[in-house]
Amino acid sequence: MNLSVVILAAGQGTRMKSSLPKVLHGVCGRPMVQYAVDTARALSGQPPTLVVGHGAEAVQAALGDQCRYVVQWPQLGTGHAVLQAAPALSGQAGLTLVWYADMPLLTAESLQRIVDRQRENSGPITMLTVVADDPRGFGRVQRDSSGAVTAIIEEAQATAAQKAIRELNVGAYCFDSAFLWAELPRLPVSPKGEYYLTDLIGVAVSRGRRVEAVALDDAAEAIGINTRVHLAEVEAVMRQRINRRWMESGVTLIDPATTLIEPEVMLEPDTVIWPNTQLVGRTRIGGNCLIGPNCLIRDTAIGARCEVVASVLEGATVEEDVSIGPFAHLRQGAHLASGVHVGNFGEVKESYLGPGVKMGHFSYIGDAHIGAGSNIGAGTVTCNFDGQKKSVTTVGSEVFIGSDTMLVAPVTLGDRSRTGAGSVVTKNVPADSLAIGIPARIRKKSDG
Ligand code: UD1
Ligand code: CA
Repeated sequence: MNLSVVILAAGQGTRMKSSLPKVLHGVCGRPMVQYAVDTARALSGQPPTLVVGHGAEAVQAALGDQCRYVVQWPQLGTGHAVLQAAPALSGQAGLTLVWYADMPLLTAESLQRIVDRQRENSGPITMLTVVADDPRGFGRVQRDSSGAVTAIIEEAQATAAQKAIRELNVGAYCFDSAFLWAELPRLPVSPKGEYYLTDLIGVAVSRGRRVEAVALDDAAEAIGINTRVHLAEVEAVMRQRINRRWMESGVTLIDPATTLIEPEVMLEPDTVIWPNTQLVGRTRIGGNCLIGPNCLIRDTAIGARCEVVASVLEGATVEEDVSIGPFAHLRQGAHLASGVHVGNFGEVKESYLGPGVKMGHFSYIGDAHIGAGSNIGAGTVTCNFDGQKKSVTTVGSEVFIGSDTMLVAPVTLGDRSRTGAGSVVTKNVPADSLAIGIPARIRKKSDG
């Protein structure tokens, strides 16, 4: 049976007090609407229809061709929002699944349950409910003495007795499409001048039809984001879910509460993550690594058996058996081959450090290629920028760079060459030779 999906994302999100559209606020590093879109794609073969309004251009720019879009302007309520999809979808028979983009914790499994229930019954609607002590301003689910659902009462319209009801409307519905598109244009206007999708439940009941309700097992799935306090609650639950999944697949998290792992990160078993560590973007980490405490690692690939302490890695590639930190900074294009050591206050950008290179103390290596087994003395700097342009430094293999050497690029140091402490190298240094002084002169063949 055909399943259409409509996701509502047109509201301003006034209670967020933000210039950013609500659905673009991030949860674990991704716009919250992205979770709804991913869930929709897991449930239905066709792209979902997203109802946009406030910040429509920004939302469409963020999601691109993952969705079809319909614009709701002005925003006259959730019923009015779904109605905007009628021209695009009302010709399709089957079922229509509708939910709100501000509930990123809602799982595909729970939505599948209302789809399955709707498939097997003759009523026009199956809705998702949750039983919770804190009503959080949700619509209340009213049932009659036989237990049948009779209406959803929005909090603003609820009597004191109705407000006491603890079964709440989650905000996800599976409709018989024919019923939805026939009744939606006839929704009554609410006292606030809006058209509530939730009033369709009362409409169905008044037509003598039965409304089915499925209750969530895990109330956390129903946390909708209306304020920044809710945003933080959802972030915490999402983080716990991701962390639990990694622990179940063999990664040790010393302190999950202070470990943030974004959804696209990949980890291998027997890696240990120490507290206060953030793994973000498309980061990949091999097995048997020790990461943290106090690391920020973004869009970086790390091989097996590496150790990274209190460091920031962004857009870097790190092979196996590398040790980094404390207090190192790998920037875009840093590539550390196997066995490299970068110690405290080392910064590497757009550079390759060959196998076994040692860079123990406060150095800057930018736009450089360092050969295997070379030693970069404390305080070495590649002077790669002359104020106008960037230039390249090339260092051969088994080179010994003395402490505090300035390598004024473009410059090349041959294999097995050495520089004296404090030298300023402005000219190429041949293989097997020693350069010292300011500016550095070639003194003699190196002893090797
Ligand atoms: C809604 C439900 C409430 C439910 C709660 C659960 C209605 C009338 N009320 O209340 O029963 O318990 O969700 O989270 O549906 N939107 C539009 N266009 C509009 C208005 C809203 O696209 O004109 C979108 C919003 O962007 C948002 C979603 O619909 O993603 C829900 O709107 P919101 O204002 O957050 O509804 P709630 O007050 O939370
Ligand atoms: Ca909401």
